[in-house]
Amino acid sequence: MTQHKTGKKREQWGSKLGFILAAAGSAIGLGNIWKFPYVAGDSGGAAFIVVFLVCIFIIGLPVTVGEILIGRTAQRGPVGAFKKLGNNSRLWTSVGALGVVTGFLILSFYAVVAGWSLGYVVESLKGTFFTFEAPEAAGMYFQSLTSNPYWIIGFLFIFMAISLVFVLFGIQKGIERGSKIMMPVLFILLLALMVRGLTLKGASKGLEFFFSPDWSKINGQVILLALGQAFFTMSIGMGAMLTYGSYMSEKDNILSSSLQILILDTAISIIAGVAIFTAVFANGQDPAEGPGLIFHIIPVVFSSMPGGYFFSILFFILLTIAAITSAISLLEVITSYLVDEKQWNRKKAVVLCSVITFFLAIPSALSYTPIFNDKLIGDKNFFDIIDFVSSNIFLPLGGLLTAIFVAWFWGFDKALLEMKKGAEDIFENHFYLIKLWKIFLRYFAPVLILVVLLHSMGILSLLGLEF
Ligand code: TRP
Repeated sequence: MTQHKTGKKREQWGSKLGFILAAAGSAIGLGNIWKFPYVAGDSGGAAFIVVFLVCIFIIGLPVTVGEILIGRTAQRGPVGAFKKLGNNSRLWTSVGALGVVTGFLILSFYAVVAGWSLGYVVESLKGTFFTFEAPEAAGMYFQSLTSNPYWIIGFLFIFMAISLVFVLFGIQKGIERGSKIMMPVLFILLLALMVRGLTLKGASKGLEFFFSPDWSKINGQVILLALGQAFFTMSIGMGAMLTYGSYMSEKDNILSSSLQILILDTAISIIAGVAIFTAVFANGQDPAEGPGLIFHIIPVVFSSMPGGYFFSILFFILLTIAAITSAISLLEVITSYLVDEKQWNRKKAVVLCSVITFFLAIPSALSYTPIFNDKLIGDKNFFDIIDFVSSNIFLPLGGLLTAIFVAWFWGFDKALLEMKKGAEDIFENHFYLIKLWKIFLRYFAPVLILVVLLHSMGILSLLGLEF
């Protein structure tokens, strides 16, 4: 265990399961239940999902392993880890710093949606959804709430305060204990919802939309979104997995843990997709509703079914839980920067980071109110821009640099020596897996990410190389 400069030992996860649940808690979040269905719905359903799955296996998994490995080896958050393993180079340290900046940006719009979710727990408790006379009323109600600055900023504030408490209590007593309770609850609730969706009349149309690909929908933009989603949903590209890895022991197996996190995360996305699209189609709604999708659909679905009052409360509690376990991982990254690098105490650090995030989130929170709903670039408001830049540009960029760092700078000799700790069995009996990881991290991930990024920034089309 590394000695901290202040003389305190660095905290570690209490158990292997604790790490997996916390990391899966980070990965599973609004990205799976709110974002994945609406992005898939906007981008043609199943075809998007196939591209997403390819991205997550050939890029997401190798990068996840690389990130956790960097964190566990360095026993620091992203800034300190890149600095330490990058021989104090400014360039690599700034890759870590990009992660911290991205953390603030993501948390700032993430907490806004989490605030909507929390607000909807209250609405479902009040039974509001039963007062809607037509399905359109749900969408209008959502608009009226999200255009009310007091509602939105109020819940944003409460959400940030809840996340603060978990991070304040630290790794074992806050994040790990919270995840161990919240994650099983989330799994059970979501399974119940999927079963409910599947038993609705008209559910099969939703399954068809979700599982039969329309290849004509695939283009460069869709690939970019799928790649961005792969990074976002796995919490990679900004040092969150790295930071969680830094509290991991050398007895744990990074390879198998990463695979388990990926499988849990992907399964939850698919289950959430089934639960939501069966409901969307059973109610004759449009799958391409954008960010409001679940807030428009779920209330309608629940208000028209037996036990709906109960299920609607469960659903929004579930969504809020998923958001909390993810938000705390973002908050932990920025907090650990001050704790690891500036020797701040945890309490002061987490309070400051939460306050900054809260203020940073206000323009995003107001992006759906008349005060600040301007379309600043194209059809994107402030919220959309922060989301796009952080998820679709900064995360892939961070992932690209992480892959290059491990494969080309730090070097596989040192990396494999560290990776072997806790993974002796795989090294002895399945060494081809390690070879595959090396090839993917060295060639596939960097090249593919670069192509997609250049495309997204319009550089390839300038060169006349459109795809
Ligand atoms: N993965 C989470 C989700 O799917 C969001 C999240 C948490 C995240 N930590 C992150 C995204 C770090 C990117 C980077 O909702």
